[in-house]
Amino acid sequence: MNFSLHVRALLCGFLLAGGAAWAAEPATPAQAAAPGHAGIASASNYATDAGFAVLAKGGNAFDAAVAVAAALSVVEPESSGIGGGFMATLHLAKGGRNVFIDARETAPMAVNSKDYLNPDGTPNRDTALKGPLSAGIPGEPAGLVLLAERYGKLPLAVSLAPAIKLAKEGFKPAPRLLRSIAREQKNLERWPASVAKFLPGGKVPAAGEIWRDPEQARTLELLAKDGNAGFYQGEVANKLVAAVRAAGGNWTLADLGNYRAKERTPISVDYRGYRIVTAPPPSSGGVAIAEMLNILRGYDLTKMDPATRAHYEIEAMRRAYRDHNDYLGDPDFVQMPLAMLLSPYYADGLRQSILKDRATPSDMLPHESVHEPGQHTTHFSIIDKDGNMVGITSTVNYILGSTFVAKGTGVLLNDEMDDFALVPDQPNVYGLLGSKANAPKGGKRMLSSMSPTIVIGKDRSAVIGSPGGSTIITQVFEGIMHFIDGQGAQQIVADKRYHHQFLPDVVYVEDGVFDAATSARLKAMGYTLKPREPWGFMNVVTWNHRGNQLDAASDPRHHDGLGKVE
Ligand code: DON
Repeated sequence: MNFSLHVRALLCGFLLAGGAAWAAEPATPAQAAAPGHAGIASASNYATDAGFAVLAKGGNAFDAAVAVAAALSVVEPESSGIGGGFMATLHLAKGGRNVFIDARETAPMAVNSKDYLNPDGTPNRDTALKGPLSAGIPGEPAGLVLLAERYGKLPLAVSLAPAIKLAKEGFKPAPRLLRSIAREQKNLERWPASVAKFLPGGKVPAAGEIWRDPEQARTLELLAKDGNAGFYQGEVANKLVAAVRAAGGNWTLADLGNYRAKERTPISVDYRGYRIVTAPPPSSGGVAIAEMLNILRGYDLTKMDPATRAHYEIEAMRRAYRDHNDYLGDPDFVQMPLAMLLSPYYADGLRQSILKDRATPSDMLPHESVHEPGQHTTHFSIIDKDGNMVGITSTVNYILGSTFVAKGTGVLLNDEMDDFALVPDQPNVYGLLGSKANAPKGGKRMLSSMSPTIVIGKDRSAVIGSPGGSTIITQVFEGIMHFIDGQGAQQIVADKRYHHQFLPDVVYVEDGVFDAATSARLKAMGYTLKPREPWGFMNVVTWNHRGNQLDAASDPRHHDGLGKVE
């Protein structure tokens, strides 16, 4: 029965979605007056302050974003950095245009699935997650250059200056970084340049000790001086390729020289009077968020008791995750049925398959794949005094990425190759069993869940995002819903979370998200509730257009983030 419903939904989508307007970015609802001051929320006080320092020099939100991202590369290297990649959603106050920047890593041309298999044919999880074979060609440096050149007001060198200073003069590492180093010590010890950077004197640095990163400072200086050529050609590129190849990797100078950050049309969806502007493929996040909102627009959630509302939201999550696993990949390489997935008619079909008072077991919906939540990555949000808005989610993938530092560069390489479906029918670190659309290929971008999102309304707007592997999407979705329900930044980042990702067919719950009566009702409807440690590190800036009030908040689950308005 469910299969036929699915087919019907597909048919509705295909037949009626003609002209579904996702490709062209519609005008933003209302141009609000400028707030007159700025808000930044990031995972580190050093990074938030770097952003404000660049605003004080006359920069806009996009210059500040360059400063924050580069500072995070230095002070929060376990989560993101110039050896990784990012995705950015921008709203330009002047003209109201929305832009998406894809600085996602690419596979090197010599990528070979056999490198991710043991001789006996079983998956080799070590090459997928550690060392140079796990690293994609970094996108972050090119993304920062693009942001600065196309959207900033200041020279790149001015926006990179605070990060260079932090790397040269030093900073006090957050306890989270020291815990990450201790956790990955054995892997870091496999590569001398990783020991030099993260285990000076062979030991995890002590809390409170000043940490310096002179080699990354030099690499950032070359990027500041020469732009893309300072990283993707010449000294740094030569050192990256030499280090990768000496350790068994396959990068070439051409892989680096050919890397380009790309602008793409963001996904826009209207919901309850707000325009939600979010990440298109190669992120799966925006498609999933749009699908959930399209399903839920058929209900008046505001009039429902908490259990009924959670039921419909979980069923929307279940259906959106089922699709995102099966269809999505790099739009430059694969054809995706986006018109269908984003069509309201498709959502109508899916909505019909939701029962009023009962969970739909995932096994009753046709599907191919599965995945599970992750650990590190970082998100920051900025609104400037003119009303420019930017959200960036940036990552080296797993904790401390590949744990491989390229000798002489200070650059910690990502392990983003694991976000490809490297070995057919074998899950990645988040349990993901991707489809052919996400198979690795030279030059191709691996699918991401990163979902930097801007919500624009007549009276209020917000920039929302978080790390968390596959849970990014439900976190951002819940953040959007809470904002539209009227909550402010502090409340949104603190709200308890729940998460369903189709398979495993369980609802992950943070302690306190449902009261006892709601939990009992959900269980009676057929849901399995599974408690999990708190997840995510959400950083949100909200803007109330009426009083021109900004609020910036960092997730209280962590103590090193900082949301500030000045
Ligand atoms: O791009 C992605 O979806 C992953 N590389 C993000 C990893 C992540 O968020 C880890 N967790 N907190």
